[in-house]
Amino acid sequence: MREVAIVGVGMTHFGELWNDSLRGMFAEAASGAMADAGVDHLDGLYVGNMAAGQFVGQEHLGPLMASQIGMAGIPATRVESACASGGAALRAAYIEVASGMSDLVMAAGVEKMNDGADVTQVLATAADQELEAYHGATFPALYALIARAHMATYGTTEEDLAWVSVKNHHHGAMNPKAQFRREVTVEQVLGSSKVAEPLRLLHCSPVSDGAAAVLLCPLDQAARYTKRPVKILGTGLATASLSLADRKSPAILDAVKDSAVHAYKMAGVGPGDIQVAEVHDCFAIAEICCIEALGLVEQGKGGAAARDGLTALGGKIPVNTSGGLKSKGHPVGATGIAQAIEIVEQLRGLSGDRQVQGAEIGLAQNMGGSGASSVVHIFGRV
Ligand code: COA
Repeated sequence: MREVAIVGVGMTHFGELWNDSLRGMFAEAASGAMADAGVDHLDGLYVGNMAAGQFVGQEHLGPLMASQIGMAGIPATRVESACASGGAALRAAYIEVASGMSDLVMAAGVEKMNDGADVTQVLATAADQELEAYHGATFPALYALIARAHMATYGTTEEDLAWVSVKNHHHGAMNPKAQFRREVTVEQVLGSSKVAEPLRLLHCSPVSDGAAAVLLCPLDQAARYTKRPVKILGTGLATASLSLADRKSPAILDAVKDSAVHAYKMAGVGPGDIQVAEVHDCFAIAEICCIEALGLVEQGKGGAAARDGLTALGGKIPVNTSGGLKSKGHPVGATGIAQAIEIVEQLRGLSGDRQVQGAEIGLAQNMGGSGASSVVHIFGRV
């Protein structure tokens, strides 16, 4: 296999983008990535997208998006893995370049959630229909069950959950692309409206529109496109049952653990080597479970991590310096690519006020459903 680098990145602002279309957002992100690398052609395109068919009635995104950027004719495929679609698209692009099949491949993600669809119902199609959704379970409800299980097993508190939101809003306030650029306090989180107990509005990621794109090429060609390539050191993808009831414990995300094990092994590093991480905080409890499953903190100790400052900028292992899904926004199919962009920018030293000084190795973890699929990528400064 060839070594692979990311040589260009581009993304839209995330938020309620009522004036932007699905294809327009994609084109903005894709042309940004191509301009960043100074290229005017692609050998291939993967588009991560969860549910454009349901959100805006548009399927068949591969050829649509390729022609939108003047690339009609290239191999172009949509990749779907619920909220992990972006991460899965990045992995597909990585494999295509690493295999030697193609040289310059774009991995992108796009989602338009604000267009009138019943968002909660559309998202719930990624849950187990027979065992969960038909009985009324939505993702806030399923993550509430995960939170209750974590609280019962490890003593995690509602205040611990609130600190995750406080930290991520603090980071997001410094991110010009974020949906919510405002700080929140523990009191505000705990006073926000209940969505699915113990989860409140300010524990939840929002409903977002947006797109993101990265360009991959063989590492030995990267100097043609950029002075600051970032190498993909490892990739891992793993799955678990869709339904929470079929898992050993709802509080333990085995797909996240397994995807991390693969990625760490391939990269030849361990959790202790990670200096900055983007993890899938679709709800505050998800960040807690993910940092445990990734081995960034001990199992059961995730609850205290944000409260103790461990995962904040300046802490031992800064997590979600972009603001995470909570504050930056969560246009589901775009999220995995946007996470990769945050890590690439950190390793390039271009993160401004959010910069983790001297960061050389970073990790991005993107998850589908209530943890039924997980993709981990580990990146290294060249
Ligand atoms: N975080 C912070 N503020 C939020 C927010 C969020 N997640 N969601 C909405 N807001 C703000 C809005 O900006 C608005 O503020 P304003 O009154 O100052 O304009 C206010 O809260 C009410 O917004 P509204 O759109 O009416 O909220 P809602 O009740 O319709 O939706 C949630 C709130 C939490 C239910 C919705 O964001 C949601 O479903 N999130 C989860 C998405 C999800 O499941 N993703 C997939 C994960 S697997």
